[in-house]
Amino acid sequence: MKHWSRRKFLAALAGAGVVGLSGLSGWRKPAFAAADPADQFTNRLRLPGASGLYAAATAKEVRQFTVSELDFEVLPRILSPFRAYVADVGGRRLLNPTLLARPGDRIKLRMVNRLKQPTIIHWHGLTNDERNDGVGNFQVEPGKYFDYAFTVRDRAASYWYHPHPHDVAGEQAYKGLAGLLIVTDDDEEKLARALDLARGVTDIPLVIQDRSFNFEGRLEYKLSREQMFAGFLGEEILVNLTVRPYLDAARRIYRFRILNGSNARSYRLAFAQGNRLLDYYLIGTDGGLLEQPQKVRESFIGAAQRLEVLLDLRAASGNDPELLKSLAFDPMHNESVDEKPGKPAAGAAHGTGADPHAAHAAPGAIADGTEMPLLRINIKPSPEYTKQIPSRLSQLPKPAAAAGEPRRFTLGHDGKGNWNINGWRFNMHETPVTVRRGTRETWLLQNNRASMPHPMHIHGFQFRVLERQNSPAQIKALSTRRDGLLPQDCGLLDTVLVWPGESVRIALDFSHPFSGDQTYMFHCHNLEHEDTGMMIGYKVKA
Ligand code: C2O
Ligand code: CU
Ligand code: CU
Repeated sequence: MKHWSRRKFLAALAGAGVVGLSGLSGWRKPAFAAADPADQFTNRLRLPGASGLYAAATAKEVRQFTVSELDFEVLPRILSPFRAYVADVGGRRLLNPTLLARPGDRIKLRMVNRLKQPTIIHWHGLTNDERNDGVGNFQVEPGKYFDYAFTVRDRAASYWYHPHPHDVAGEQAYKGLAGLLIVTDDDEEKLARALDLARGVTDIPLVIQDRSFNFEGRLEYKLSREQMFAGFLGEEILVNLTVRPYLDAARRIYRFRILNGSNARSYRLAFAQGNRLLDYYLIGTDGGLLEQPQKVRESFIGAAQRLEVLLDLRAASGNDPELLKSLAFDPMHNESVDEKPGKPAAGAAHGTGADPHAAHAAPGAIADGTEMPLLRINIKPSPEYTKQIPSRLSQLPKPAAAAGEPRRFTLGHDGKGNWNINGWRFNMHETPVTVRRGTRETWLLQNNRASMPHPMHIHGFQFRVLERQNSPAQIKALSTRRDGLLPQDCGLLDTVLVWPGESVRIALDFSHPFSGDQTYMFHCHNLEHEDTGMMIGYKVKA
């Protein structure tokens, strides 16, 4: 198994003299193979505080987001150019605030664009009319502003917001722009009481993102031609923008709200103590709580997806730290397998026999599918805790399949380096699909064999997964059901990961209260795929 290393960065730092090396002793160990990887996780995980990164505020008290360029310490003690949504609330300055709301709340917010390029905020997972959904057609120029006004109509869940301009969403998100919007309701409060959870202390957001740094330790977004095609892969995995983080925890139950905020990378999430994998409980997905907790040992999470989990640290043995890690998996970058000669240079080096874990590793980047630690959890002496996980969490209506043939979407590429959906590439003036408001449909998302995993995201409506067919072995192994569904498929979703060769049937209900026609996006949330055209507009006809 491959482990990642850090030589390039160290060599660079030693030469650059930007910072004293004294503070960077954690960076000096070159690789994990020899030593205990957990030893290198010496940076305290950033948690939302009263101000700064991810600080919480009610959506009602935040009136303005200034989209700003500023300097931010991504790596410890190194200032990097960074972009953030800045809000000033009652004397506090918040960066990428965690917005708190309840269903029915009214959000009124002005976005002021202080970037040097157009931008727009998209509210990922929320049911909005097309204007408040916030996509490229509404992007605003530098120096201009945009006013949002909408009602939170969705279930309690961890939603998020991020940029959605034409062609540069990947770059803008990468450079810092992303935050959470947490909607709570009575079910949520009941759970918090039952487990004695406190937001920011034992109910913790974990935003997982991979990043690369230049010779001075500043964030770098440079795409090789290969990464334009496969998507960006970084050389470090950050959690809450903390590199090699640790969390001090008590022997009790924690709730983690995990967002895969990476541009392109998927993770196979597990908790481990030494070589022992620990059970954890999946309790929520993109669209909020499941009906019942699902005991699991691992879950895949694709870009843009959220998984909410409970981890019971009373089950930890001794005082050894636990690790949240991503287990090794086959990234299935099979783009070239069925291709004739003359296919893009982008896929040339792999797909037929070579180490699949080496797929698309640009120099320095951690190859997709590599086993790696993400967060070290130190277990501290703690007061007795006797709470138990409730057996019921919430209610979800049964997914309802529409009668008749499904609408089919094939995910593939043109052999020249461009991904597409049914052969369509994004054109803002076209909406190749029209659905009727108030109707139900079944969509069948079919991924070619010569492809890669695509986290497919639908704007405007959450959906249910009905069935997975032809799943690759590593996915099938996680299902105990005849319909192939994974534990996480039993929730409400806005993004579903579709693996090469796989077909996923989903149920949509196009009911919403907005008058007139509304146009929404359907796209791959691998942001490089989105930016290069793996997106279509679809119209909901009134
Ligand atoms: Cu999270 Cu169209 O995006
Ligand atoms: Cu979205
Ligand atoms: Cu994709």
